[in-house]
Amino acid sequence: MKKIQETMFKDMQDKSIFEQARAYAFEYADQVDTMRVYPTEESIQNLSALQENMPTESCDAEHVLNLLQKYAAPATVAQTAGRYFGFVNGGVIPAAVAAKWMTDMWDQCGGLYLTSPVNAVLESICEQWLKELFGLPEDTVAGFVTGTSMANLCALAAARYRLLKNVGWDVNAQGLNGAPQLKLIAHEHTHASIVKTLAMLGFGKENIHWVPSDEAGRIQVDAVPELDQQSVLILQAGNVNSGAFDPFTELCERAESAGAWVHVDGAFGLWAGASEELKYLTEGIHKATSWAVDGHKTLNTPYDCGIVLCRDHKAMITALQAHGDYLIYSDKRDPLLYTPEMSKRARAIELWATMKFLGRRGIDDMVTGFHALSKYIAQQLKKAGFRILNDVVFNQVLVACDDAEQTQKTLQYIQQSGTCWCGGSNWHGEPVIRISICSWATTADDVDQTVEAFIRARTQFKYDQTHE
Ligand SMILES: Cc1ncc(COP(=O)(O)O)c(C=O)c1O
Repeated sequence: MKKIQETMFKDMQDKSIFEQARAYAFEYADQVDTMRVYPTEESIQNLSALQENMPTESCDAEHVLNLLQKYAAPATVAQTAGRYFGFVNGGVIPAAVAAKWMTDMWDQCGGLYLTSPVNAVLESICEQWLKELFGLPEDTVAGFVTGTSMANLCALAAARYRLLKNVGWDVNAQGLNGAPQLKLIAHEHTHASIVKTLAMLGFGKENIHWVPSDEAGRIQVDAVPELDQQSVLILQAGNVNSGAFDPFTELCERAESAGAWVHVDGAFGLWAGASEELKYLTEGIHKATSWAVDGHKTLNTPYDCGIVLCRDHKAMITALQAHGDYLIYSDKRDPLLYTPEMSKRARAIELWATMKFLGRRGIDDMVTGFHALSKYIAQQLKKAGFRILNDVVFNQVLVACDDAEQTQKTLQYIQQSGTCWCGGSNWHGEPVIRISICSWATTADDVDQTVEAFIRARTQFKYDQTHE
């Protein structure tokens, strides 16, 4: 221990490894806009240099950084620049990264007030700000988790606890064997993370009442069955393909009068509520019981930033409760009560920093800007002869060529181009190129370059066809 401890004290004292890390990070930041958006196969192959048996001896920290710089950095996906449109990944705001860098040095354990009063206080501030931004009821509480998948899990665990408790069944104590049946209702376009959550919580995918979705990928209101006190209705703010929003008002009102629980998966779409122009999309959402949202998507915080919001405080903290003689709860906010985790990163720091930096107006501008650029790219691609398959209500654009083969090959060439990166999906049985605009760094010029890359890729496909 003594030898390695001395090395680490030296690292902390002379700070040279941190200077080195900073230099490498700045080098990356300076070139990210001109590097390939997706790494070459060769760069990925070169990662094999890191593959070795577990090292026996320690090495210099500088050597560790050098390896990362030499082999890992060239194999990264350049998603902090403006032309990564895959999934709904979002970029990262410089002020948020800077805050993360600075506070990583604090290494706060965010589980209890006692282990990090700073994190607990910032969680409370973020909770209040999020409620205001999304227009949620004052009695809403928030838990800060890794992402929306975990936020969905927490909310649906709370729903399960509450609805079973209402009929005299304590799921924490009695489990699920022999429990009264709950009616889980979701629609065909419900996100995969919800399906995973329902499996993990023991509801069983085959026991879900699946409601059809409409053309746009929204729940079909008239196909929703009668709701009662045993029902959990799962809605979504932002279809992962089309960006469409479920109609909340009528369904939430029906649920409220029936005593049902409504959960809204708003991973990226809940942020529409923070845009004056787009907040009509989330109308009625405040009448739901719980919500899940990410900071690391539309808000552009660093990763590991999901938030569960819930109006039933008691159900949340009972469903996620932990007891232990060594656990010292305070009379203030103890973050672990709102999450399945105990030790956890003080992730509210970056969330707070991002919201403080942007302010309400900055968030509005950014979210509204994603929508404007999405409309612009859809318009430019349409002009260039591509088909746009969705109504671009938010930040998702579904693109197709003349036929399935052309779409798939064009997508492949786009992905290989290095100019931009889009994912693929299926929309009503047809393969599509899926664009998600959700990085602060994307500009109209990035969109123009992307449209050119689309056209080049399609030309390449046509050339291949005539030269086969
Ligand atoms: C609608 C929706 N729900 C849930 C998730 C899962 O979120 P996370 O990846 O943060 O767990 C996503 C991710 O894209 C999503 O788009």
